[in-house]
Amino acid sequence: MIEPRFIEQFRKMETPFYFYDMNLLRKTIETAKAESSQYGFEVHYALKANNCDPVIKAMIDAGFGADCVSGNEISKCIAAGFPSSKIAFAGVGKSDREIETALENNIFSFNCESIPEIEVINEIAGRMGKIAPVALRINPDVDPKTHEYITTGLKDNKFGISYRDFDEVGQLMRTLPNIQLKGIHFHIGSQITDISIFETLSLKVNAITSWFDKNGLYLEHINVGGGLGINYTDPKNESIPNFKAYFKAFNDHIKLKPGQQLHFELGRSLVGQCGQFITRVLYVKQGMETQFLIVDGGMTELIRPMLYKAHHQIVSLTSKQAEAKYDVVGPICESTDVFAKGIQVNASQRGDILAIRTAGAYGQVMASAYNMRGPVKEIFSDNL
Ligand code: LLP
Repeated sequence: MIEPRFIEQFRKMETPFYFYDMNLLRKTIETAKAESSQYGFEVHYALKANNCDPVIKAMIDAGFGADCVSGNEISKCIAAGFPSSKIAFAGVGKSDREIETALENNIFSFNCESIPEIEVINEIAGRMGKIAPVALRINPDVDPKTHEYITTGLKDNKFGISYRDFDEVGQLMRTLPNIQLKGIHFHIGSQITDISIFETLSLKVNAITSWFDKNGLYLEHINVGGGLGINYTDPKNESIPNFKAYFKAFNDHIKLKPGQQLHFELGRSLVGQCGQFITRVLYVKQGMETQFLIVDGGMTELIRPMLYKAHHQIVSLTSKQAEAKYDVVGPICESTDVFAKGIQVNASQRGDILAIRTAGAYGQVMASAYNMRGPVKEIFSDNL
């Protein structure tokens, strides 16, 4: 999966770092673009998954919009060249300053999560002489059957407006002078691998849009968020996610009115497989019962295994020895700084290089400076 010429270069390079296969990124984006545009669907790239410049540029080149969750992400997108008319702004806790940034830049829509938030946006927009375009994020109470920490559309999650508030929200949409209702928005969770979940979501969406129809509230767009899962256990055989089945599920099940447009906010599925975390074995340590590979990267660079017990495949790039059983652990002063326990890796020694696969999404962006670790480096195949 990593070309031998790159591995030769890695041997001479300081580790750890993220390595991005830009050809795979472009192929993934092309596939998503082809599968979505055949139905006229609009994709916004969820910048939170990976915000490095070459990735952002590839998304702009594909004609995608952006899904932002902070004022800083909005500013970054504008500076990088995303059209402001394609920027959606989501989040349960938008600050006044962030709302101003979004209004100054005339973005596509605020995905609004609560009545108090809508009232504040109306007030700030009024002060600025603007009309804020709003999509209501609805909590559809659909179980995405994914990890509990990345589930967002169940009724006890903090996200979205509940059915209970529909009448009041409908009334606000008719009366608030500086709010314009543009659409509705959903995002039920991330790393969803069962496509039938998206069919269930589509049917819920249909029921909800008919409430808006009945109440005389016109929706220009329906945004169904992101969530398409990727293959962490066998990335080699599924390096590009099943965009075909994903978009088809929505096309087959969502009922759109003439002129109504379907939008998506994909993050992980666009960037997950193109990134790998490259780390070097510092020490092989024989514990009482366990053999440890102590590597130079840790939870400060890639926290998913520690935070979510997420599985990432770990392979040796430099050892051809028979496999042995190891716990692969980082250097951070925390017992949780463990990438994997009891896994088979080619027998390794000090200096061997490991790749932790499928690390392009929610990897570098979640890095921290704990233990005064430096910013993690990012290497792009185009530049090697
Ligand atoms: N739209 C909204 C409103 C979201 O909250 C998210 C992700 C997305 C779109 C993009 O979803 P995706 O296509 O990437 O599934 N840090 C966690 C994942 C958190 C996802 C947060 N929301 C992880 O490492 O698994």
